[in-house]
Amino acid sequence: MKIAFAATEAVPYAKTGGLADVAGSLPKELEKFGCEVKLFIPKYSSIDEAEHKIHYNWDIGEMPIRVNGMIRSVHIHQSILPDSNVEVNFVDCPHYFHRGSIYTNDKDEDERFILFSKAVIETLQRMKWAPDVIHCNDWQTGLLPLFIKDNYSWDKLFDKTATLFTIHNIGYQGRFTKSVLLSAEIRSELFYPGGPVEHNGSVSFMKAGIVFADILNTVSNKYSHEILKPDLGAGLDGLLRERKPDLFGILNGVDYTIWNPETDKYIPYHYSKDDLSGKIKNKKYLLEHFQMPFDENVPLIGIISRMVAQKGFDIFEEALGDLMNLNAQWIILGSGDEHYEELFRLLSLDIPQKVSSYIGYSNELAHLIEAGADMFLLPSRYEPCGLNQIYSLKYGTVPIVKKTGGLADTVQDWDEWNHYGHDTGTGFSFEEHSAQALYSSVLRAVNYFGDKSVWNKIQQNGMMKDYSWKKSAEKYVELYRLAKSKRS
Ligand code: ADP
Ligand code: GLC
Repeated sequence: MKIAFAATEAVPYAKTGGLADVAGSLPKELEKFGCEVKLFIPKYSSIDEAEHKIHYNWDIGEMPIRVNGMIRSVHIHQSILPDSNVEVNFVDCPHYFHRGSIYTNDKDEDERFILFSKAVIETLQRMKWAPDVIHCNDWQTGLLPLFIKDNYSWDKLFDKTATLFTIHNIGYQGRFTKSVLLSAEIRSELFYPGGPVEHNGSVSFMKAGIVFADILNTVSNKYSHEILKPDLGAGLDGLLRERKPDLFGILNGVDYTIWNPETDKYIPYHYSKDDLSGKIKNKKYLLEHFQMPFDENVPLIGIISRMVAQKGFDIFEEALGDLMNLNAQWIILGSGDEHYEELFRLLSLDIPQKVSSYIGYSNELAHLIEAGADMFLLPSRYEPCGLNQIYSLKYGTVPIVKKTGGLADTVQDWDEWNHYGHDTGTGFSFEEHSAQALYSSVLRAVNYFGDKSVWNKIQQNGMMKDYSWKKSAEKYVELYRLAKSKRS
């Protein structure tokens, strides 16, 4: 099967969050199931051509693409995704993609991804390559299914091309003013209250994706049900209920060639479930790095996260007093809302023996925290999948999570499972989004940490879990077939 995979970030080229991990690993696995995959991402100025062996494609040449009435000159550069045959196509348009960050608050943010979506389609035309499925991801590629069915429907090349739209996070919808109709050349008949591209008076890229894609999916099973309700549907739950027969949940896999304590290239000491001695050395190394005291018996709790309300920093802040009274140390990596960044900065200054934070982005440190911490906290208000708790399981770093979305699908509470006589629990979780519930879970974890045999069992249970892409990629292939059947 031929798959065009369109995403706005992908490891190892550009990353702000989990979408990059998915776009950089799922295509590789799809290949193993006989798919021919072409990956498309924008060519941001931060992507190093030499490092990634990226070269210009002369056959495609210059593509003039009109956005907001202006013709932009677009070019394609190519490379191969490491350890695979996946062709990576970098959409080059310096006007839109040479900015200080991958996503911006610039007033032409809509135009940037209109151009990207059109460029994917026009590149396929120039290649004369008709994919069976164009796999779109999140709002940035939400207009692509509409373009295929409307703007480019004249092109017979795409007569049998289906679209799959993966919702990684319904909370980010790409809503812009009505002017998008003109800049993207969307027929104005599609915009009316409740219409296919309209949401509360604005044009919604996410809504367009949900309306026009042949098949939809989310990145965990639980989240596919949660978004059908007003609480987590972000205003699109009604529409999603209408499309329920076409909506599926497929849990993200992870790339164990990158995230594995036995081979991780960023950590000083490798270890495995049969010999955890390297883990404690990593803990020592990590604490030394932050100039914090090391004590084997004091648990180190790690947080790696975008610092936004979605990730549960509201209840963390509310529980702060109690949490800081626990006999535990904390290392926090992240950036985002100024309020939370400042909170952690101050906390690290106040109680440096107990708390350290790194405000910013560091892939290397993310690996080191996974390896060196004893526990990992992710108290998200909602979490479509979440990857760090899955990495944590593999690293023997016991996750403490809220029972929502992918967190609920991947972490089994020790007490709950033990209660039924199954000592299969892999972490700690709580149901209610409250400071009290969060605190109780952390307290339980800290208490169990003192009981080495229980703790070791929890670690072992987690380290044995296999969340590699194999099963999930197979499910994607099934969805591609289903999508395809809708277009034949
Ligand atoms: P989301 O995509 O919602 O941010 P995920 O858990 O799916 O959440 O993915 C987050 C990814 O980004 C993980 O691979 C995590 O290690 C990484 N990450 C998040 N914040 C940082 C940071 N400050 N520095 C390095 N990596 C980070
Ligand atoms: C989104 C979600 C996260 C998910 C990631 C990759 O960023 O917030 O839960 O893991 O996409 O699918």
